[in-house]
Amino acid sequence: MSRKNLIAGNWKMNTTASESVDLINEINSIVGQQTHTQVCICPPFTSLQKASGLVEQSAVSLGAQNMSAEPSGAFTGEISASMLRDLYVSYVILGHSERRQYFGETNQTINKKVLAATQNNLKPIYCIGETLEERESGKTLDVVRSQVREGLESYPVSEIDNLVMAYEPVWAIGTGKTATDEMAQEVHAFTRTLLSELFGDAPASSVRILYGGSMKPENAKGLLSQTDVDGGLIGGASLSAKSFCSIVEASINS
Ligand code: 13P
Repeated sequence: MSRKNLIAGNWKMNTTASESVDLINEINSIVGQQTHTQVCICPPFTSLQKASGLVEQSAVSLGAQNMSAEPSGAFTGEISASMLRDLYVSYVILGHSERRQYFGETNQTINKKVLAATQNNLKPIYCIGETLEERESGKTLDVVRSQVREGLESYPVSEIDNLVMAYEPVWAIGTGKTATDEMAQEVHAFTRTLLSELFGDAPASSVRILYGGSMKPENAKGLLSQTDVDGGLIGGASLSAKSFCSIVEASINS
């Protein structure tokens, strides 16, 4: 099964709405017309409305960085799936390690968000990955197994084409330390095996599994050439159009 690579930029808590206009225009002008690799930008909520208008005529998709599992109501400060859909958002990052670490998200609370996203025609980018301590104590695969099984509980196989996974080893995020190509491939292949157990071989083979954690133009090609690495979730390097688009180009050539 051939999978189209996805390069997604997670801008995290960076850029005001006005600053994001320049960055989006630059990204659009470099990679906005190519369709070989799917490109997605995930700016902060406050930039989504502007971003939506700017990417309308381009091949760049829009994603959000988080979402409530609740459909509406008295949940001060939260953003629902339908609010995102209304702004033509296609993807939503869920379960990022920063959400797990700083905002108490668990596999169970993330599972509710994943299901809410898919019920509302949003494509979840479900993040998994181990901490340094977990890797050093040999627990990486156990952690990933629980994250996959618990976070995807009751996920309907009919929605498998909308599911995106992102393996982001926590120790590689924002640290400049990247997993080696082989380390990434090992966990990606293991993740696909877990998806096969849950959904069957053919559905699992259609799921894109992105790598995230200090992916940069210099290391992108090696990572993206791995059999089970189907794209990247880029943090720091997505805040510069030049480096983000170089990663897209590495994906096109991988
Ligand atoms: P960095 O690319 O800055 O390491 O961040 C990765 C990440 O957390 C993307 O979601």
